[in-house]
Amino acid sequence: MANLNIKPLGYALGAEVSGFDARKPVPPALREELLHAWYQYQVLVFPAQPLSMTEQIAFSRNFGDVDRNDMAPRYRDPDHHEIVYITNKTLGPNMMSAKRVGRKWHADATFALRPQKGALLRCVEKPPVGGDTMWANMYLAYETLSPAMRAFLDPLECVHDVSLLPGAQESNGNSAEHIAEFRRINPPVIHPLIPVIPETGRKTLFLGWVREILGLSLEESAAIIAFLDQHAGSPEFVFRHRWSVDDIVLWDNRCTRHIALPDYDHSKTRHMLRTTLLGEQPGRLAEGRGSLGNRETLLEAVQAVS
Ligand SMILES: [Fe+2]
Repeated sequence: MANLNIKPLGYALGAEVSGFDARKPVPPALREELLHAWYQYQVLVFPAQPLSMTEQIAFSRNFGDVDRNDMAPRYRDPDHHEIVYITNKTLGPNMMSAKRVGRKWHADATFALRPQKGALLRCVEKPPVGGDTMWANMYLAYETLSPAMRAFLDPLECVHDVSLLPGAQESNGNSAEHIAEFRRINPPVIHPLIPVIPETGRKTLFLGWVREILGLSLEESAAIIAFLDQHAGSPEFVFRHRWSVDDIVLWDNRCTRHIALPDYDHSKTRHMLRTTLLGEQPGRLAEGRGSLGNRETLLEAVQAVS
């Protein structure tokens, strides 16, 4: 595609892509080029793309099946179920608050049975300064571990639990009824700790809302998770994006983690719209391992290291 401009933005990951209009249908050759860049750089920034909700959903379909967010029904737009609000605005009484989402390193919705392949986030409104988002490369996080540690981690599986999500805890301000519904829709699930990403053939470190590592004691799990969390947050793996209105950022949720920085004036609006792409590799239910619920001691122990 003659006019497509791809400019790397970070050493570890991230590239800016310009030279096309995301409101228009994407021809097959351009789509292939975008997919190639996405798998290479993991995070793509598309500046100055003023899309409507419908146009964002249509553009997202170039990268995979767009999720209707049934696992988080009270975060989505009532009329466009493919759109999730990432906002500090006060939403309606039937919505769960998104004011404090994303403030810890995480991959999105790893508690889902079919974890997300990726997501597109569009900046609609932003504070004058701050409110950046950072992404980290989990291929590098895995590949920089010692051979002995990688061999230990390779076969392990983890229990992912929605109870660890701040929005699913009473202290976050959401109603007990909404939290109970959120937990009921999303029972604990099991995913591999070191999956292989089909498009690249590379192993990655899949840390999300991990409660425990199967086969280890809770104390052993907590120590390993704490180490991996600290390692994966190393600055050399990170790309930081300073938002402009109408930026769209596309990321691979399988091989990156991200964090929304709360370093801005919270009396100002930070309003983002997210579409999400369904993954290909389903996990399985963690039968007999109920949600943590109100087992506060255990929850605090795991939270302290996740
Ligand atoms: Fe997120």
